[in-house]
Amino acid sequence: MRGSLLNVKDLRVVFYTYRGVIKALNGVRLWLNEEERLAIVGETGCGKSVTALAIMRLIESPGEIKSGQVEFLGRDLLQLSEEEMEKIRGKHISMIFQEPVAALNPVFKVGFQVAEAIAHSQNISLKEAYDLVPEALTMVGLDWKRTIDLYAHELSGGMAQRVMIAMALAVKPKLLIADEPTSALDVTIQAQILELLDNLVKVGKNAVIFITHDLAVASEFCDKVAVMYAGNVVEVAISDEIFARPMHPYTVGLIDSIPLVGQRKELRGIPGIVPDLVDPPSGCRFHPRCKYVFEKCKVELPELVEASNDHFVACHLYSGGGSTWQP
Ligand SMILES: Nc1ncnc2c1ncn2[C@@H]1O[C@H](COP(=O)(O)OP(=O)(O)OP(=O)(O)O)[C@@H](O)[C@H]1O
Ligand SMILES: [Mg+2]
Repeated sequence: MRGSLLNVKDLRVVFYTYRGVIKALNGVRLWLNEEERLAIVGETGCGKSVTALAIMRLIESPGEIKSGQVEFLGRDLLQLSEEEMEKIRGKHISMIFQEPVAALNPVFKVGFQVAEAIAHSQNISLKEAYDLVPEALTMVGLDWKRTIDLYAHELSGGMAQRVMIAMALAVKPKLLIADEPTSALDVTIQAQILELLDNLVKVGKNAVIFITHDLAVASEFCDKVAVMYAGNVVEVAISDEIFARPMHPYTVGLIDSIPLVGQRKELRGIPGIVPDLVDPPSGCRFHPRCKYVFEKCKVELPELVEASNDHFVACHLYSGGGSTWQP
């Protein structure tokens, strides 16, 4: 359970709201090797984006990182000064978001924004960085002469996402975090963007955390899949393995309901709804929806353990006690 690039341990994040304290992340555990691609999947509200933002230390008020470690190349990012963290963000970890047009700055031209990202990451002047913009835009399949002087609102969603990818990868990050990078785009454009990302990441040898609702896309694009439920990572396995031998009852339900994934409806395979994280269930947060629930599940949060070779699950059925369970 150790990655050579990133080790997230016991990450807890809360949001203080008028309804009460939302316990959004409940001890998240993740690890990633260099050049590896990890997908994070799970229903809406399970904490995928908050995990990504916490790794980048971009959780803003009313949110707060309560505890945990985000060890990146051996250094705990949660202990760095804001200044040191700025360097990590600009050079070593970059992020692309679901809404590319909104993520770009509306008042600056594309060329300037790409140049600024390059200048910041390579410690060169803006003028020098400008010379590298045509190459960066061409790399993502854009006609740079036509794109360089446009503003964000003049770009289509697909073009804007290509610009975001150009900015994110121009800095040659060790780790790229992509939070649902294609879900706001048309289906045909989605496929193009994924193929582009796939090629660029292969060439750039970037490690990737890829956040998606779509388990099928996750397993195709990534080496490993981490399944999240209500603020916890409940299962981690190699992509093929998670389909062939899902262990956690939630993952089994998620796979059963694949045609519905992404449509934000109740899962076919799993009755009940995602719990309210102001007052989450005790013990395993999945226990009220689990048909294999037994006493221990209601009182004790299961730890993520290696249940079989390179296959990790957080479920008491695998630490003994469940009588009706046959994986
Ligand atoms: N700024 C915020 N203020 C209050 N609560 C928040 C905030 N951001 C996230 N949360 C809460 O944290 C929890 C996790 O949210 P998160 O955005 O990580 O979910 P997600 O898995 O990314 O969902 P989606 O698939 O819809 O993007 C949710 O309960 C959400 O309501
Ligand atoms: Mg999200």
